[in-house]
Amino acid sequence: MDLLLVEKALLGLFGAAVLAIVVAKLTGKRFRLPPGPTGAPIVGNWLQVGDDLNHRNLMAMAKRFGDIFLLRMGVRNLVVVSSPDLAKEVLHTQGVEFGSRTRNVVFDIFTGKGQDMVFTVYGDHWRKMRRIMTVPFFTNKVVAQNRAGWEEEARLVVEDVRRDPAAATDGVVIRRRLQLMMYNDMFRIMFDRRFDSVDDTLFNKLKAFNAERSRLSQSFEYNYGDFIPVLRPLLRRYLGRCHDLKSRRMKLFEDHFVEERKKVMAQTGEIRCAMDHILEAEQKGEINHDNVLYIVENINVAAIETTLWSIEWGIAELVNHPEIQAKVRAEIAEVLGAGATVTEPDLERLPYLQAVVKETLRLRMAIPLLVPHMNLNDGKLAGYDIPAESKILVNAWFLANDPKRWLRPDEFRPERFLEEEKAVEAHGNDFRFVPFGVGRRSCPGIILALPIIGITLGHLVQSFQLLPPPGLDKVDTTEKRGQFSNQILQHATVICKPIHA
Ligand code: HEM
Repeated sequence: MDLLLVEKALLGLFGAAVLAIVVAKLTGKRFRLPPGPTGAPIVGNWLQVGDDLNHRNLMAMAKRFGDIFLLRMGVRNLVVVSSPDLAKEVLHTQGVEFGSRTRNVVFDIFTGKGQDMVFTVYGDHWRKMRRIMTVPFFTNKVVAQNRAGWEEEARLVVEDVRRDPAAATDGVVIRRRLQLMMYNDMFRIMFDRRFDSVDDTLFNKLKAFNAERSRLSQSFEYNYGDFIPVLRPLLRRYLGRCHDLKSRRMKLFEDHFVEERKKVMAQTGEIRCAMDHILEAEQKGEINHDNVLYIVENINVAAIETTLWSIEWGIAELVNHPEIQAKVRAEIAEVLGAGATVTEPDLERLPYLQAVVKETLRLRMAIPLLVPHMNLNDGKLAGYDIPAESKILVNAWFLANDPKRWLRPDEFRPERFLEEEKAVEAHGNDFRFVPFGVGRRSCPGIILALPIIGITLGHLVQSFQLLPPPGLDKVDTTEKRGQFSNQILQHATVICKPIHA
């Protein structure tokens, strides 16, 4: 124990020396840095501001320090931007300069030091991966080929909930079943396969691996080694756990999913799903096999839970606003007539349902700070110097919930997107509303996420009256905030009273 303390003290001293050198270098360059709280030696602002830099804490700091401010987290610089103009500058005007992603010891393990697409730096590798992923995942043709599958999955959710007698009386935690639906929506696109039930062993193993991957990479536990690199040796055990999970998870992708597609392709020679396209790119030598597995990794991380959180929030808001729920139901009935269920092509004829989806993404933005951006070289923002390799956070949630820019933003009011904000779209034609980012690093999955959310909410509202559980008049919408996500804290129990058409 004593030895460990001595080791820590020595490492701390060494850290102080390193930091002093870094500070001297920065001062030497005479940077004009953005404003921010005065920091302490070595740790910078870390102990002042804490680990949990969620969108609401950062909004409070923006009110104090302005539209751009700098926090020093040990050796890491964190720049937070909180105005539509600066968001435009980071995401669009200087999209190349600020188009990289930060890396750290844990992300390096899960992405093989940036061999993936989501977390890699801006450059040739990212361009190639994004190009290779576009045709199999992110085109209108993919939507056209898969939308019947999404409609079927939504219908199966409705059937399962209807079969459960408790759903209409005590209520169900509907997220559990919707999670299976989201895995199926994505695994149908990726591997042309689905899981039959929430009890499927492989599904549960996959889900557990993905949850552990998120937990380990989003935890604050390893911040000290990231912020004060000299303490990194103390992370040995933590990083060991990451390595172990990474290899078991990649092996699962390989053995149960990728191998399967290879066999089918060898037999039929047909291209049926996204993985077939990706394997074809590997055969042509455009990417290697590790890249193939990292694409599977990225889709598992980026696509499933984000969409699921948004659906969960949408349901919670519809339960808590019965008048809005009734309006959605009435619109569907009027436009589609009796007996027809919502399909993807119907969505453009259902503006109120679309407004509900947008309002959910605005008030309950799933990735409120976007995926952090980074500048590889020294840069400039709003006249300030931004040192190379700063982590840049765009507080997209604040932009979409700022009372100076929106009418009564804390109300869930879909009507705003049919009235005063009717020109505003989710793909980012207005920098106040960028739930999927904008520009080079924006979310390519928007093309799938919007219809999946619309179809799912549409089916549920058509089929059930969604009500709070017995004894309550609302479901709890407390946020479980984090640096990477904004999820509902308590997965809501919802009474689903069947509506017979
Ligand atoms: C409601 C659901 C979703 C939300 C709110 C969402 C949000 C986001 C955001 C905010 C970013 C980062 C933008 C930036 O850094 O400027 C992002 C990136 C990304 N998303 Fe999504 N996303 C969703 C669904 C999906 C789906 C369904 C997929 C894939 C099928 C997907 C794939 C990706 C990928 C690959 C990136 C990285 C792009 C890059 O770095 O070049 N997302 N997403």
